[in-house]
Amino acid sequence: MKLICIENYAEMSVVTGKIIVDKIRTTQSLTLGFATGSTPKGVYNYLIEDHRANGTSYQQVKSVNLDEYIGLKAQDPNSYHYFMRQNLFDHLDIKQNHTHIPNGAAGDLEQECLRYEQLIKALGGVDLQLLGIGQNGHIGFNEPGTPFSSRTQIVTLARNTREANSRFFNSLEDVPTHAITMGIASILESKEILLLVSGEKKAEALLKFMNGEISEEFPASALKHHQNVTVIADRDALKYI
Ligand code: PGA
Repeated sequence: MKLICIENYAEMSVVTGKIIVDKIRTTQSLTLGFATGSTPKGVYNYLIEDHRANGTSYQQVKSVNLDEYIGLKAQDPNSYHYFMRQNLFDHLDIKQNHTHIPNGAAGDLEQECLRYEQLIKALGGVDLQLLGIGQNGHIGFNEPGTPFSSRTQIVTLARNTREANSRFFNSLEDVPTHAITMGIASILESKEILLLVSGEKKAEALLKFMNGEISEEFPASALKHHQNVTVIADRDALKYI
């Protein structure tokens, strides 16, 4: 595992953005794994700016997202479909039918999980996966206790995850209780993983990740089984290291 220590959120966004742009420019056809939340927003801004200034093209890029809330339609401003359109896809030349996000409003959610898992296989797997980490160590929406062997699945969100994400909703009650997420085994099949960690709120999680044992009680620890993980962390997140 490689650790890149940087100063702050802005620098993390630039360093990560450059890695992604470099991959796009040097790889014929690429499948990127995208994440949502506050962590990757700066990276997406970098990609948008770079696309405008340097013309980096996403015509050959395909993408899969980690997760989506159950019960929110794609048009819902709190859905991850909406987040991705607003924060990235609408500002690039990526083809809409090349972007994939689990459908949390599917009639048959079990079937949707199978479909998503097969889709990732059909795409040849994820070449480069962007990941954030929850304060409880979750990756995607795989909460503590999730088996490392898990595939795309329906999960119940932990209370602290719903509390952390309630900042985007009117109230805690409005935050969905369930989600579809790529499983831990699905994530670990990505050829390369960038784990972004920024801010003091993530310092304890990063400490556990770096120094703690590998345990299903701390989902991110599964990444230690992967051969090509780069952690990009800022000074505040590295506070206890
Ligand atoms: P955040 O979420 O980027 O909004 O902090 C990360 C996560 O919960 O995985």
